[in-house]
Amino acid sequence: MKPVRVGICGLGTVGSGAVNILTRNKDMINARSGCDISIIQIAARRDNPNCNTSGYKVTRDIFEVANNPDVDILVEVIGGTTVAKDLVLKAIANGKHIVTANKALIAHHGNEIFAAAKARGVTVAFEAAVAGGIPIIKAIREGLAANRIEWLAGIINGTGNFILTEMRDKGRSFDDVLKEAQALGYAEADPTFDVEGIDAAHKLVILASLAFGIPLNVDKVFTEGITKLTPADVTYAEELGYRIKNLGIGRRTAKGIELRVHPTLIPEKRLIANVDGVMNAVLVKGDAVGPTLYYGAGAGAEPTGSSIVGDIVDVARTLTAAPENRVPYLGFGSDFVAEQPILSIDDVECANYLRMSVLDKPGVLSKIATILSDSGISIEAMIQKEAKEGESNVPLILLTNIVQEKKLAAAIRSIESLDSISGKVQRIRVESLK
Ligand code: HSE
Repeated sequence: MKPVRVGICGLGTVGSGAVNILTRNKDMINARSGCDISIIQIAARRDNPNCNTSGYKVTRDIFEVANNPDVDILVEVIGGTTVAKDLVLKAIANGKHIVTANKALIAHHGNEIFAAAKARGVTVAFEAAVAGGIPIIKAIREGLAANRIEWLAGIINGTGNFILTEMRDKGRSFDDVLKEAQALGYAEADPTFDVEGIDAAHKLVILASLAFGIPLNVDKVFTEGITKLTPADVTYAEELGYRIKNLGIGRRTAKGIELRVHPTLIPEKRLIANVDGVMNAVLVKGDAVGPTLYYGAGAGAEPTGSSIVGDIVDVARTLTAAPENRVPYLGFGSDFVAEQPILSIDDVECANYLRMSVLDKPGVLSKIATILSDSGISIEAMIQKEAKEGESNVPLILLTNIVQEKKLAAAIRSIESLDSISGKVQRIRVESLK
């Protein structure tokens, strides 16, 4: 069989992981793919001490790879959405297949890139873009092809999960843990992408496209980060039988599709509530199969490199298939990928955790309960702590029933306007994931 020649653009954490795997496991990878897969060029601005490139041809110019007539598959692991987009479109124009780990690129420009690839008859593979080493894209696109996906919920940012886990287990500060995640190579170049939910939003839109057959709608995801969570919320959530996780949620409802990323209380008995550290997990509910859970390392050199190499093998295996007989990028034939209404967050319905600081005097609780009941919101559980000596305020924690966001927002505004409430109400959404 014809050899498959690979050019790698980028030698950061993921690129070095992919090169190391392709070098170390070459015999087995060739045996699995049925052809000789060889790296014929690597382009990187600088060397990476974690990767021995001595046997390879190395250039500083990534576009040399895109223009190299001998390269069959270009691996884009430079990140970003400007140069990376130009590189990928150039390589596609030159008839190369693309393997990428770039979730921002796919989330923002995937529709355009897929159209260009379709016109040129080449493949774009992006397993490494979501949940690092977990083959979640293959699972949804192929393994669950029989199912109408009802919803999915994922811990899809390892850095955020690592921070929440360390804060809960060790009482460490947010900044301290973030620094460690950066040193370990988990965090994005701009760590606000991790802690503000942007990275998870990129991954969620990719999963939602695969699950629901919609184009990539990155601008329609509701995104809330983890920066406002306090150790007190983590503790109260535990007292109520919940863990706080930053979830990306996609759900098909009668009114439209929900796309949201935010901290979420999940019952502690759910398996996904026990996914800790940098690990990722995605729960997918199909109408035929029921709930299925996919778990593994969500970041890091070799886990993400594993997905890159898996895609290279996949592309190599399908090179002899006519483009129209290959697995479609989003798992639906391109003629069947169609817009569906995406729900505004105001129309989403979910249960909620509310924490507020209230004056410790008679009648306060009844005023809050009245506001909630007048809005048709029922209280499912409550914790009220005793006042500490010398303090006039006490924390009050409530769990509500499932309620429409805009109704809850109005009730929170009324509660915050009470004289007996100090500061803002802390609100965290709750999902039972049944
Ligand atoms: N910054 C990402 C994370 C890396 O922490 O999950 C993998 O996409």
